[in-house]
Amino acid sequence: MNSSDISEYFCLLSGENPELALYELESIISSMDDLVQLVRIFDSRIVNIKLKETLLQNDERSILQKLIQRATMVHCCCKLLFQVEYKSSSTNEFNELVQSFDTNNLLDLEPTTTFCVRTRRIRNPVGILTKPQITQEITNYFGAAILKRFPNKKVDLEQPKEIYRVIVSKHGLWFGLHICESLRQAVRKRTVRDRPFFHPSSMNPILQRTLVNLTAIKEGQWLLDPFCGTGGALLEASRMGFRSVGIEIDRKIVWGAFRNLTSDKITFPLTNLIFGDAKHLGFRFGAISAVITDPPYGTAASTQGYDLNDLLIQFFIEIKSILSPNSRLVISIPSTVNLEEEAATILNASYRKFYQYVHRSLTRKILVFSLR
Ligand SMILES: C[S@@+](CC[C@H](N)C(=O)[O-])C[C@H]1O[C@@H](n2cnc3c(N)ncnc32)[C@H](O)[C@@H]1O
Repeated sequence: MNSSDISEYFCLLSGENPELALYELESIISSMDDLVQLVRIFDSRIVNIKLKETLLQNDERSILQKLIQRATMVHCCCKLLFQVEYKSSSTNEFNELVQSFDTNNLLDLEPTTTFCVRTRRIRNPVGILTKPQITQEITNYFGAAILKRFPNKKVDLEQPKEIYRVIVSKHGLWFGLHICESLRQAVRKRTVRDRPFFHPSSMNPILQRTLVNLTAIKEGQWLLDPFCGTGGALLEASRMGFRSVGIEIDRKIVWGAFRNLTSDKITFPLTNLIFGDAKHLGFRFGAISAVITDPPYGTAASTQGYDLNDLLIQFFIEIKSILSPNSRLVISIPSTVNLEEEAATILNASYRKFYQYVHRSLTRKILVFSLR
């Protein structure tokens, strides 16, 4: 890495399900028309990305904000200033590698503003004895390097204008200028119990938003939630600026979803709610570009007397007649339900599968079908 590589950034993925987190990021990137390019993934959690070369610096920032603020499973994005990798190293070698940092990489930074350095160890570097001080030592080292290059900058730990981040992982160290963080914490604070209408089958907003992202939906396209329940997916889609339509078979729940949407000041031409049946959709071919489904499992939410497999197979047959090639369908079902092969055949799709532990008696299986 040298100072001429101006457009390289790194993102830190959340540690709770890095495989799903990476696919969420890749899906959002794929919806952004080649503006962002994924360069490399390190230790399952650090992703280096590049932006299209011709972009201006201000455009770069707004594109990164768009990308990261959509994501639910990314913590932050930083401009890459320095990176070292190690397969295995002793403490001395590790220190030498870190000290190979060239302060010339700081050339185009603001010379006088306040700053702080924050270091996060996500896994212990191989071969290094885990001293608790290592984080503090690294923070001090990079802080001193910045001050050496810009003596007029001032450290401010409370409200710095610039934050520099160091990520220390098993096989590498990244140092960069913080650009933006995801809305993960804000979305986490929105709980389903705070809505005017609550139902025990409601899905948490974080996962609901992740499912929307996994569809790789683009601006202007329509998202369908055919088993929309209390409207959680519509709320998140609307917050992200997507048009959506939800279908729900239980009249009482439709009214509940309506209350949830109106209390959130959702604009109705862009967010639609239909009292209907997911087995008989009746949209025209190509009207919908992305589908997310959180179907009833027959416990908290009723399948209306249907066997879950039969209900879903009927739904897949119906939806196939609506979705055009390259659309995605994302479904969250209990891990014990095995219908991915049959669904892939009906939909003529390839698929990716992820597992997410919820509690002792429920592990979710998230399937992402990409239609051919
Ligand atoms: C698991 S819940 C959805 C929860 C939703 N994601 C939320 O956050 O509120 C499944 C919903 O599907 C509805 N449902 C069941 N059969 C349906 C059908 N054939 N068509 C449409 N909705 C149906 C149920 O009434 C239930 O509200």
